[in-house]
Amino acid sequence: MRTPINILITAGPTREAIDPVRYISNRSSGKMGYAVARVAIERGHRVHLISGPVSLTAPEGAILKQVVTADEMLRAVEEHFPWCRALVMCAAVADWRPRRVATQKIKKGDRCLSLELEPTVDILGHVAQAKGNRLLVGFAAETDMPEEHAVAKLKFKNLDFIVANDVSRQDAGFEVDTNAAVLMGADGRREVWPLMSKHAMAGLIVDLIETESN
Ligand code: CTP
Repeated sequence: MRTPINILITAGPTREAIDPVRYISNRSSGKMGYAVARVAIERGHRVHLISGPVSLTAPEGAILKQVVTADEMLRAVEEHFPWCRALVMCAAVADWRPRRVATQKIKKGDRCLSLELEPTVDILGHVAQAKGNRLLVGFAAETDMPEEHAVAKLKFKNLDFIVANDVSRQDAGFEVDTNAAVLMGADGRREVWPLMSKHAMAGLIVDLIETESN
């Protein structure tokens, strides 16, 4: 019998309010993160799933924490990070939030509206400072030069692995049930993962966690 591993997974987008009825967000269905959670549960691991707003059902057995903003996701990840052996950060976290949130709905009038945006905290970069022997797996959503950008993020965020996703492809990335990627490791590893279902790719990610957590 395999020893269960404590796996913390984030999924979906975050939303940052502009006013009580509007927000900015990122494209993300949450399918990749939920698939990782499902496979991990099927293999007998313990899963905490921190999810932004999505229309998916969490796999039975996963402990689900629903969040909305990047700040809420940061707090939830910080809370569960000491518990985990591996963190898989699939979430599409908003990189900016409106500096001021209007308390009343902004009336549109006949004018342009400028929003001042301030950066949110880089969750992976932040928790990686207390990494210990935890395994950190990130995703890189890129529209150009995916491998170059992904390897920069791998180093900058002190990750063990990054899954480089070319989201300009129609059959990989957002909303669809398939994905294609290049896995890159801090150990110099480079594996091309051809087009496959997100469930199959989740299997490869859990394989990686099982091998590397020994
Ligand atoms: N990430 C994070 N906190 C953020 C933004 C991103 O933890 N505020 C994580 C994502 O969950 C992903 C990885 O960092 O695992 C890379 O995210 P990505 O959006 O590709 O890159 P960014 O770091 O946001 O950089 P850029 O937007 O400039 O490409």
